[in-house]
Amino acid sequence: MSTDAIVLLKNDHKEILKAFRDFESAGENAVKTKGKIVDRIIELLTVHTYIENEVMYPRVRELLPGLEDDIDESYEEHHVADLLVVELASMKPDAERFDAKTTVLIENVRHHIEEEEQEWFPKVREGLGRKALQDLGANMEMARERAPRRPSQPSALKKTIDAVIS
Ligand SMILES: [Fe+2]
Ligand SMILES: [Fe+2]
Repeated sequence: MSTDAIVLLKNDHKEILKAFRDFESAGENAVKTKGKIVDRIIELLTVHTYIENEVMYPRVRELLPGLEDDIDESYEEHHVADLLVVELASMKPDAERFDAKTTVLIENVRHHIEEEEQEWFPKVREGLGRKALQDLGANMEMARERAPRRPSQPSALKKTIDAVIS
């Protein structure tokens, strides 16, 4: 099986975007269903963000310093999404702002995924080449094993708090 880093990340993106569409098509009154879908969105985003933040972005920054600005912007976009995820994780699906907050999260993450896939992942592919992308992907899959599943787990929450107060 290929461990090409960009192929793996795009597979994650597909799964995330599918969960977004599930939320959007669930219907106004499907409170329980939407609660479950948001739980799934939270898990998918928590794992995916961990892999990018801990493995992909730092390695790309090291190997391709020219992409520094794209990576900084991406960290900031993750940070905004993290804040919304932390809030959503402690909200009940029947809360007044639950749908609105989820919609804003979806808008933000869709924009972010589009920037990754259209703007800077192609530069990463060109700059790193096949072998480095395979190695990077293998490291990402190891990180996936230890990734938090929910933002309430200390490592994820601590990162968010550190980012807010630093
Ligand atoms: Fe990202
Ligand atoms: Fe991503």
